[in-house]
Amino acid sequence: MRESGGRLKNRRIALGITGSIAAYKAVELLRLFQNEGADVRCLMTTSAVEFIGTLTLETLSGRPVDSDVLSLQGDGRIGHIAAAHDVEAIVVAPATAHWLGAMAHGLAGDPITAACLATSVPVVVAPAMDGGMFSHPATQANVARLREFGYRIVEPETGVLASGMTGQGRLASLNRIVDATVEVLGGDASSAPIVATSTVATSTSPAESRTPARRDLAGRHVVVTAGGTAEPIDPVRFVGNRSSGKMGMAVAEDALARGATVTLILGNHSVEPPALCNVTRAETAAEMQAALRALTPPEGPRFDVLVMAAAVADFRPRTTSATKIGREGGMTLELEATPDLLAETAERVRDSIRTAGGRRPILVGFAAETGSLERAPEKLRAKGVDFLVANDVAEPGSGFGTDTNKVTIFSRDAEPEDLPLLSKLEVAELLLDRIVVRLAAAGGAAKGEVPAGEVPAGEAPAGEAPAGEAPAGEAKR
Ligand code: CTP
Repeated sequence: MRESGGRLKNRRIALGITGSIAAYKAVELLRLFQNEGADVRCLMTTSAVEFIGTLTLETLSGRPVDSDVLSLQGDGRIGHIAAAHDVEAIVVAPATAHWLGAMAHGLAGDPITAACLATSVPVVVAPAMDGGMFSHPATQANVARLREFGYRIVEPETGVLASGMTGQGRLASLNRIVDATVEVLGGDASSAPIVATSTVATSTSPAESRTPARRDLAGRHVVVTAGGTAEPIDPVRFVGNRSSGKMGMAVAEDALARGATVTLILGNHSVEPPALCNVTRAETAAEMQAALRALTPPEGPRFDVLVMAAAVADFRPRTTSATKIGREGGMTLELEATPDLLAETAERVRDSIRTAGGRRPILVGFAAETGSLERAPEKLRAKGVDFLVANDVAEPGSGFGTDTNKVTIFSRDAEPEDLPLLSKLEVAELLLDRIVVRLAAAGGAAKGEVPAGEVPAGEAPAGEAPAGEAPAGEAKR
C-alpha cells in the first residue's frame, strides 16, 4: 500500500457503506482516506450497520454516522442533505446489488442514495457482491445507468468470494478506490510514493497486493481474445476445448488497471469478464475471425496491442447439421482445420502498414503445449508475433481452468524467460510490463484516452519492421 500521500489534503469526503460482507474493509478505507489527508464522514445503510456497527467508524472519523434517512443533525439540518452539500465527493464502497438498483432508479430509502440524489459532487462507486449477482443483466444495467449519471465505477476484481466460489465480485483493492477518488477530485493518482507496509489486513489477492496503478497504458487500445471457441456439429453439440478464459480475463483486467481501453473478444468461458471491457462475443473461430478482421481494416489496425489468449478450436466439422443428429447409426465427423487467426491477423497488420503506414501494434500469442515447449520458437516465428507465452498444460497448476500458470515468454529479440508458478494475474502483469516496454520502443509514449475502435494508427518509427517477418504462406496451418 501507499504511505500517507496528502493527495486528499483537506478534501471533504462522504464514505457510503452498504450491506456487503466487504463492509468490514470500509474501516481500512476510511483510514486510507485519512492518511491522504481527507476529512471523512460516514453514511451507512441499515444492513451495513448490521454487518459492522457504527462505533468504530464514529470513533475513527470523529463524527456521528448517518444511518437513518430521517435523522436530523445536532444543528437541525437533515443528515443526508447536509452531507450532500458539505462534501466534495461521495464514495460508495462497498456498493451492493440492491444499492446499485436503488440508485439507478432514484429510490432514496437510505442516506447514501438520498445524499447522491441531492448532491452535484463526483460519486465513486465500488460494487462488491457474488459473481453471479454482479454479472446478472439487471445489475449490469444498473451499473451502466450509474455510469450515465457520470459516476465513476471502480469495478470489482475476480477472485475467491465470501461464498468460497470464484467470480468477479470482490471489492476492488482499496488503493484503486482511493486512486479513483483522487482522480475524480482532479488529482494525480500516480503521484503518491509507494512503500511496502503491512497495515492493510484486507489485501489478499494478487491484484490487491501488486504495485498500485501505473497508468502506463492510458490512451492505448488493447484487444484480448479469451475463452475457447465452440464449433457446432448440430444445434446441440460442438467441438470445443477446456479453456476457462481466465488467462485472457487476467490480461484484460490488468490492462484496464493500467488505463487502457480494452476490447475482449470472448469465446466460451467460465468466469465473468471485467465490467469495463467492451465485450464482443465470438462463439466460433469464424466469428472470432470476423471480429479480428473488423479490427484490422486496410487503413491500419484499430489497436495498439493484441493478446491472443483464446483457445481457438484447431478443427471444426466440415459441415454443420441444421437439425439435431439422432444417435442411431452412430456418427462419423469429418473435421477441417480452422484458419490460423493470429497468423492471419499478423499478416493483415503487415499488409496495412506496408500500404498505409502507421504504427506497428504489439502482437502476442499463447501456446498450450504438453510435455515440452520446443515447438514454441517456431510458433513465434510462424505466427509473426512479438511474444509467445507458452505453457505446459500437463504440469500441475498450469492447465486449463486453474488460477495459476507457469509460463515461458518467448520473444522475437530476447532469450526465453522462464517464469515461476504464478497467479494468472501476476503472469498478466509481467507480460504487460514487457509489452509496455516494447510499445514505448515502437511508438513513443501514449497520449490521451482513445475510445475503443477509434485508435488512430500513428507513424511507424524509422527502421521499425512490421510485426513478424514470416511470409504469409509460411504461417502454420
Ligand atoms: N490460434 C489462432 N488460430 C487458430 C489456432 C490458434 O489464432 N486456429 C492462436 C491461439 O490463440 C494462440 C496461438 O495461436 O495465441 C497458439 O495456439 P496453439 O493452439 O498453441 O497453436 P496452433 O497453431 O493451434 O498449433 P498446434 O495446435 O499444432 O499446437
